[in-house]
Amino acid sequence: MDYLKIFAPATVANVSCGFDSLGLAVDAIGDKMSFTRTTERGVKITNITGADLTYNVDKNVAGAVVKKILNESHADFGIELTIHKGFSPGSGLGSSAASAAGAAFGTNQLLGNIYSDLELTKFAMFGEEVACGSPIADNVSAAIYGGFVLVRSYTPLEIIKLPVPSELRVVAIHPQIEVKTKDARDVLPAEIALKDAVIQWANVGGLISGLYTDNYKLISNSLVDIIVEPARKGLIPFFNEVKNSALNSGALGAGISGSGPTIFALCKGNEVASNVYKSIEESYKKTGIDFEMFISKVNPEGIKILEEK
Ligand code: HSE
Repeated sequence: MDYLKIFAPATVANVSCGFDSLGLAVDAIGDKMSFTRTTERGVKITNITGADLTYNVDKNVAGAVVKKILNESHADFGIELTIHKGFSPGSGLGSSAASAAGAAFGTNQLLGNIYSDLELTKFAMFGEEVACGSPIADNVSAAIYGGFVLVRSYTPLEIIKLPVPSELRVVAIHPQIEVKTKDARDVLPAEIALKDAVIQWANVGGLISGLYTDNYKLISNSLVDIIVEPARKGLIPFFNEVKNSALNSGALGAGISGSGPTIFALCKGNEVASNVYKSIEESYKKTGIDFEMFISKVNPEGIKILEEK
C-alpha cells in the first residue's frame, strides 16, 4: 500500500465516573488524514486544514507519532502526511487523540499491519504526551478500538472493549471556547476522600455492568462523577444549566466530555436524543455564547479506512 486516507473519530473520555479510564468513540465528527509513502525517509506534513496547527513534525502530535513509529520499526521509507481537522483542538472531544490515534493507525497500515491495537494505543499515548504532557489512554484507545473502552490498567497497559447497548446515543454541545487539557488537569485534587472513592468506583462498576446487561436504568444511575466534575465545571460556562436541560428532557446522564468544554449527554434512543438536543440548544441560545452540537451513535469500529491505493 502506498496511499491511505482515514477517518479518525472524536471521542468522549471519562464518561462521567471513569476519569482517565473510560472512553467512547462517536461517528458524527472526526478528522481526515492521508498518508503517502515516500522513498525518502522521514516525515513531512504537507497540508493542514481545519485548525491552526504546527507543521513542525516533532511538535505536531500526528507528526511526532508517525516519526516515532517509523523510527522504532526501522522503516526503509518515509511518509507525507495531510491532516484535516474536523473539530477544534481544546474541545474536550479528543482532538489530539484523533490525530495521535489516526497517525498510529495509518503508519501501521503502510508498514503492513505489524502492530496490534494495544501497541498502537501505546504509540498514540506518546502523542498525547506531546500534546498535553500526560500519556493518557482513554481517548486514544476509544479511537483505535472503537465503541466503549475501559483502560483497565496503565502499567502494564490493558484495554477492555465493552459492549454498547444498541439504542445508546450521544448528544454533545461544544461551547466555542477552548479549555486546555493541562489547565483542566491542574484544577484536579491531588487526593480524594475514601468515601468519595467508594462512590466513584461503585459507579464505574455499575456503568460497566449496565453496558453488559443493556440496563439503561443502571447506566443512568451510574453516570455520576463526584470527583472530577465538581472541580472542573467552573471552567465551562453554563455547565449546570446544560446538565439540567439534558436530565429534565430525558437524558440518562450528562457530564463533561474529557477535559471540556464540551458537555455530553447519553440517551436511550433517537427520540429522546432529539428532545435532549433541542432542550440544550434552547437553553444555550440564551447565553450569547456560540456553540456547535451533534447527535451521534457510538462508533463501533473506531478509525475507518476511506481510501487506499
Ligand atoms: N481523561 C482526560 C482528562 C482526557 O479528563 O483529563 C483529556 O484528554
